[in-house]
Amino acid sequence: AYPNLEFVQCLESLNAAFDVSKILHTPGTSTYLPILHSSIQNLRFNSSTTPKPQIIITPLSESHVQSTIICSKKHGMQTRVRSGGHDYEGDSYISSTPFVLIDLVNFRKVDVNIKETTAWVQAGAILGEVYHSIAKQSKVHAFPAGVCPTIGVGGIISGGGQGTIMRKFGLAADNVIDAVIVNAEGQILDRKSMGEDLFWAIRGGGGASFGVILSWKIKLVEVPPVVTVFTVDRTLEQGATKLVHRWQEIADKFHEDLFVRILITSGNNTKGGKTVQAAFNSLFLGTTKDLLPLIQKSFPELGLKASDCSEMSWIETIGYFSSGLPKGAPIDALLNRARAKDFFKAKSDFVKTPIPEVGLEGLWKLYSQDNTGVIILDPYGAKMGSISITDTPFPHRGGTLYNIQYIINWSNHTASKVNIDWISDVYNYMTPYVSKSPRSSYLNYKDFDLGRNDVSGSYKNAISWGTKYFGPNFQRLAKVKATVDPHNFFRNKDANLVRFTSG
Ligand code: FDA
Repeated sequence: AYPNLEFVQCLESLNAAFDVSKILHTPGTSTYLPILHSSIQNLRFNSSTTPKPQIIITPLSESHVQSTIICSKKHGMQTRVRSGGHDYEGDSYISSTPFVLIDLVNFRKVDVNIKETTAWVQAGAILGEVYHSIAKQSKVHAFPAGVCPTIGVGGIISGGGQGTIMRKFGLAADNVIDAVIVNAEGQILDRKSMGEDLFWAIRGGGGASFGVILSWKIKLVEVPPVVTVFTVDRTLEQGATKLVHRWQEIADKFHEDLFVRILITSGNNTKGGKTVQAAFNSLFLGTTKDLLPLIQKSFPELGLKASDCSEMSWIETIGYFSSGLPKGAPIDALLNRARAKDFFKAKSDFVKTPIPEVGLEGLWKLYSQDNTGVIILDPYGAKMGSISITDTPFPHRGGTLYNIQYIINWSNHTASKVNIDWISDVYNYMTPYVSKSPRSSYLNYKDFDLGRNDVSGSYKNAISWGTKYFGPNFQRLAKVKATVDPHNFFRNKDANLVRFTSG
């Protein structure tokens, strides 16, 4: 009944004392579709025509991952690795050639060592599980990673990982001190045995090109017991254009404890017409009493009042930023892996020079159409600006004022074209205002419009899109790839990033 009997026999022979049917799911088994669909976030890649794996493996031990790699290689099957399934382009669970999906849903142990201020985190854990485990042991420790608690740590850390405390502590990838990976030979390597080049590559270069990351050792950071959040909304009629313009000049220079991002959406004004709304959405690592004079000095135009602010613990801010949960909401909600799903497309940019007001006004015009697009401006500077471009593959450091994410969501297949056209129009419009030569993007906001492997998987082809994500670090990533996976086992002919031969 198995579509690839030889693969299964290989798996059985390498796991002789174990009943492999416990971890093996094929189109004929009742567990196959529920597991496949469980963590797909982007419904664009959950249709009857989306290519599906011949086999899904849900490993329970490291040896299950090793044997899956060895048997896939032996029987000419590709592998895909999925942790949280949040990939923007379905990269973790799609391939047009026969493939085995390794789903790390059972690899989610989080071991926090508060004394050492570290934690070992298995790759299939979601951020909510990591944050929750830290908070269970300490109110003054945290981990700087993403805003949404359902993201898998396998994907987010290997692609960078930005969030509300990155200005003080950097990316998630900047706070990794060890890792365990299974390579293309099926060997288990830690930082020492994989060497510094591979350890460098998987902290921002995307894990999927290099192996299967089993776990990370992360460094926890210290936060105050009480922090402050606020969200201040301003429409065009309330001076949003001038405020956004001013924010660009100062947000990367704010005190490192202060993070103020902007979410731009379309809305209705008081007269029932269309307007644009800028939500200034902030986390301050301190009390309201300390925040108010700081904002008064650095951003008085915002008109922040004490009544706009809420004090809470760092762990409560996760719910506040991801779903607007108020102070005191139960933190066990962070353990919930289910999330409302929809169709979406995103793109990203980095800005090095403030966009003039006239440029912003042109952008607002694109918002007068009927759509649900959001633009998120995430400020850099402070620690983000002080880390060298070459420290990790993530090159968007000093000189970058902020990151832009354009994202549009919709609810059915038939609406895909109009929404994707809209986001392309916005992206084209922004060309003169954002980073150039190359126009750069953030790997975790993956965008296949930028390019992807051709059939040859050649370096020459890959460099055209690779430098957009990695700048000058792309060359080193290619060299690491050629060394650790010379036969290009972790690849995809038609759809993946940094999966290329170095020739
Ligand atoms: P998924 O399992 O789909 O994997 C993503 C990629 O990593 C794939 O190429 C996959 O093969 C590879 N991979 C996964 N696990 C691996 C492993 N163990 N070994 C090797 N390769 C592995 N980003 C951010 O920086 N800050 C944020 O706040 C947010 N917020 C956010 C919200 C929502 C709703 C979504 C959908 C996404 C984000 N992101 C984000 C983007 C997110 O960081 C990005 O999509 C990550 O790659 C997702 O990681 P997952 O493990 O969930 O994805």
